[in-house]
Amino acid sequence: MKWPDKVTVKEVGPRDGLQNEKGSIATEDKIEWINQLSEAGYDYIEISSFVHPKWIPQLKDAREVAEGITRKEGITYAALVPNMKGLEVALETNVDEVSVFMSASESHNKNNINKTIEETYPVLEEVVKEAKSNHKPVRGYVSTVFGCPYEGNIPPSQVLEVSNRLFDMGIDELSLGDTIGVADPKQVDQTLHYLKDKLDFSKVAMHFHNTQGMALANVLVSLQHDISLFDGSLGGLGGCPYAKGASGNLATDDLVYMLDSMGIQTGIHQGKLLEAASYIQEKLGKALPSHQMQVNNRI
Ligand code: HMG
Ligand code: MG
Repeated sequence: MKWPDKVTVKEVGPRDGLQNEKGSIATEDKIEWINQLSEAGYDYIEISSFVHPKWIPQLKDAREVAEGITRKEGITYAALVPNMKGLEVALETNVDEVSVFMSASESHNKNNINKTIEETYPVLEEVVKEAKSNHKPVRGYVSTVFGCPYEGNIPPSQVLEVSNRLFDMGIDELSLGDTIGVADPKQVDQTLHYLKDKLDFSKVAMHFHNTQGMALANVLVSLQHDISLFDGSLGGLGGCPYAKGASGNLATDDLVYMLDSMGIQTGIHQGKLLEAASYIQEKLGKALPSHQMQVNNRI
């Protein structure tokens, strides 16, 4: 097996983690938490989402969070935007980067952003163009890459089609999401094998959810395909609206622990991660599901 010397881990907990948590966190606590994350060695933190507050009430304070955090030099503070309305506010807050998102499956796309895939392309195209003319890099997420809660398996050709359309619009990086956490290592291997000579993997991140406990195994397979960008959510924060009681995103602290153990550099400080995880755990009033936090909570 081949292993890289270095991997980039992007923190999405303040967005993907908190959007799926039932408990609400005060704006000033989110700000304090993101400030703590800024001291942990990340170079990328996704801080919130400029979506409709009726759809994602947990992140309705995106503007206040973006304006309230202390920005540390060298860190990209990013936020999700679904359309021009979201981008407008994101630009007013001067976030460093924006992320657009859509699904590889028709029904998830419709349920998540109220548009068909075809209807979504022109919306995102305009967002990418406007973001670029404001000198903001754009990340593109594709959801339901390894399975859809409504349609089941998604052919990799469908993932490729959506990914190509996003790259054609001018996105700088693509994040492939296992939104409901159903990917297994063999499927990840087969999908990445299919995509390998069709996409530039230096611009592709993997976004795993740990619903079935397979996220780290899926990371190991991705590393074999020269993927070196991964998204994580501290403490395994978040959940899955389609699998009651299931854990959320791949936990950043478990990912960093594994990579550290393997001698793969991330630049992230595990002790500081656990301090920040303990902080948000206390604010949420429930134990976070990551292995690292389970060990930490016993000490
Ligand atoms: P819509 O209802 O179709 O929007 O929602 P619309 O354009 O018809 O407008 C309806 C109303 O919403 C209007 O207000 C707009 O102004 C307002 P009214 O005139 O009725 O008073 N509106 C907005 N308000 C605030 N912010 C906005 C905005 N846009 C319109 N940006 C929309 C379409 C996309 C807005 C809605 O479906 C939405 O907000 N969806 C959010 C879904 C979401 O955030 N899902 C989770 C993120 S994706 C994800 O988690 C996957 C990922 O993690 C990767 C993975 O795991 O695979 C990224
Ligand atoms: Mg996600």
